[in-house]
Amino acid sequence: EIERRVNALLKQMTLEEKIGQLVQYNDMGQNVLPSADNKQVADNPDAKLGIDPLKLAGNGGIGSMLNIVGAQKTHIYQQAAMEKSRLHIPLLFGADVIHGYRTIYPVPLGLASTWDTALVRDLSAMSAAEATTGGIRWFYSPMVDVARDARWGRIVEGAGEDPYLGSAMARAYIDGYQGTNLGDTSHVAASVKHFAAYGAAEGGREYNTTDMSLSRMHQVYLPPYRAAVQEGAATMMSAFNSLNGVPSTANPYIMTDLLRKTWGFDGFVVSDYSAVMELTHHGVALTAADATKKALEAGVEVDMMSHYYDAELPTLVKSGKVPMSVVDEAVRRVLRVKFALGLFEHPYASGTEVTRALDEHRPLVRKAAEESFVLLKNDHDVLPLAANAKKIALIGPLANDGMQMIGSWGGANHKGDTITLKDAMEARASKSGATLTYAKGVEIKSTDESGFAAALDAARGADVVVMALGEDAMMSGEAGARAHLDLPGAQQQLMEQIAALGKPTVLVLFSGRPLVLTWAAKHVDAILQAWFPGTEAGNALANVLYGDASPSGRLTVSFPYTVGQEPLYYAQFPTGRPTGDADLSVPPGPNSRFLSRYIDAPNDALYPFGYGLSYTTFSFSDVKLSSDKLMLKDVQHAGHITATATVTNTGKRAGSEVVQCYVRNRGASMEQPMRELKGFRRVELAAGESKTVSFDLGFDELSFWNNEGKQVIEPTEYTVFVGGDSRADHQAMFHIVQ
Ligand code: IFM
Repeated sequence: EIERRVNALLKQMTLEEKIGQLVQYNDMGQNVLPSADNKQVADNPDAKLGIDPLKLAGNGGIGSMLNIVGAQKTHIYQQAAMEKSRLHIPLLFGADVIHGYRTIYPVPLGLASTWDTALVRDLSAMSAAEATTGGIRWFYSPMVDVARDARWGRIVEGAGEDPYLGSAMARAYIDGYQGTNLGDTSHVAASVKHFAAYGAAEGGREYNTTDMSLSRMHQVYLPPYRAAVQEGAATMMSAFNSLNGVPSTANPYIMTDLLRKTWGFDGFVVSDYSAVMELTHHGVALTAADATKKALEAGVEVDMMSHYYDAELPTLVKSGKVPMSVVDEAVRRVLRVKFALGLFEHPYASGTEVTRALDEHRPLVRKAAEESFVLLKNDHDVLPLAANAKKIALIGPLANDGMQMIGSWGGANHKGDTITLKDAMEARASKSGATLTYAKGVEIKSTDESGFAAALDAARGADVVVMALGEDAMMSGEAGARAHLDLPGAQQQLMEQIAALGKPTVLVLFSGRPLVLTWAAKHVDAILQAWFPGTEAGNALANVLYGDASPSGRLTVSFPYTVGQEPLYYAQFPTGRPTGDADLSVPPGPNSRFLSRYIDAPNDALYPFGYGLSYTTFSFSDVKLSSDKLMLKDVQHAGHITATATVTNTGKRAGSEVVQCYVRNRGASMEQPMRELKGFRRVELAAGESKTVSFDLGFDELSFWNNEGKQVIEPTEYTVFVGGDSRADHQAMFHIVQ
């Protein structure tokens, strides 16, 4: 039925109307709101192009718009499209709703640390339901770029370093955003980004080149995009970077051969912001016409903000340089998504507009924040804070800044909606009769130490000190690359002086990436990695700090000892001169100089992938396999091995553990990583309780990708490890035999 409607509409369209569907603008600085409600930035640089999107909406010259917030605004544009344009084709409003629209949950890297896919699905559905009341039916999310370099600012927007976990998260986001019926007006079309391998930017520098073997591309970077497409993702976004020499936005191999022909994607691709124009900067197009032809023919249907498709396509098509069939196919793909969304029937925002964080959504975002915190260290059980801690000092520039606690891409949150750590701790103190002394100490990025004295005074008078330190929200996210991974400004100095007082000291760390915590790991009693927790930041943190909830987040990125270790990830290849897991009794032996290692830093992470403490403890036992052999022909036809293990809560209180299953493949025709995650389960355990957990390992888990881009399996040896982080040492072995 959708195809019939698409084709019938396409037949009626002029060339200009067809091209219009491929064009996207923001409001270009236009003042469309009738009154003082208008918060438009008058000097929007895009306004200078002289483009009038309202006029374009009325004459079919535009198909979609980005980041238009609020039902009143989307209504004005939509009304022009529906009532003035000849064919009444609705606009599609897209927005960067990355971790909530009005009620904000943790940034995606924090959310991934929950390892809780059901929670991610529920939050995604929640933010879709909020945003659709403002007329938004398309999210530029999820970002599923695997990222292994903490210098890259956008590491905060994804699930971290691992393709298996990244794929599970990708599916969860798609399920939540799109639901089972995209036509339901509380759902949105997802735009999976940034296709492809944007997260592998060299040196972690934003927008930089990526270049890698086909094997690595398929084994590490492509799986999350493919998982999202298999889950039914309606749209994709092309990446800014070049991939193996060809900019993604003009890359027929990834856009057409892989995405369409191999994966069967039937939605459309939108370029990233001005990425079509940037093809000239990349040097693969000499003119705007050239860039337009290359991008469209590679498979980028919608031009976000380049002002190239609308300017160039009319002549390109009329002169026969771009066949009409290419334009028709692109328009078909856009219309297909609009029909699937039910936009023709329901073009306007429906229901009561959500304009502030919703009270009924707070419990869910609070739970998400609690689950996202990763307890990195907890000496002398300084956490949870003792009930008898009567005097608490709260110190640091992140303790009372609601905007910073939201993180980058904060949706359309309202400043006053966020509960800060200070708010929540004060509320607790006033109930329990404790005193809370707060001192900022220093601004986030400032080197001015004049606030240190007050902070040190507060700490001196306290039983326990909580320091809220870290990055500001804009130090990660787009264009947030860093060459240093230290605490900014004078925060390190402040921390050192406070720690020198010898009080029990807790560091609550806000950041959009792993920071170098080598000093803190030695000198501070407890470290709680908080990421950017969202609207309920303070309440969630207080619940965990005071022990109402036990920390259950686990790292999805490796934390380095020093920035020089980056890119750093657990799934390293072995090398011919290994350290660590290898048998060091054979030459060159453990004491040789000639090993693959740094002379001035460890190879391993300070805090590894999968790691995180709890207020209780867990043990693992009985790792068993269903067989010690698997026939090659069976595994090629859905056969599998089942690994089981027992996890026990060995402590005195309930808690959640993430049981992780890793596999190492030895003897294959290509070197394979030391271990790769191939299964995980989040389990809740009462004190003393044990559970048996099982993982099925079949073709997808046991195969690898070769340099022809093929997924293959060979008769080799597999070691299965089960445990609570990527260093898991309970193991069992099996072989695939011919
Ligand atoms: O969606 C984003 C993308 O991730 C980065 N560039 C801008 C886009 C639209 O805001």
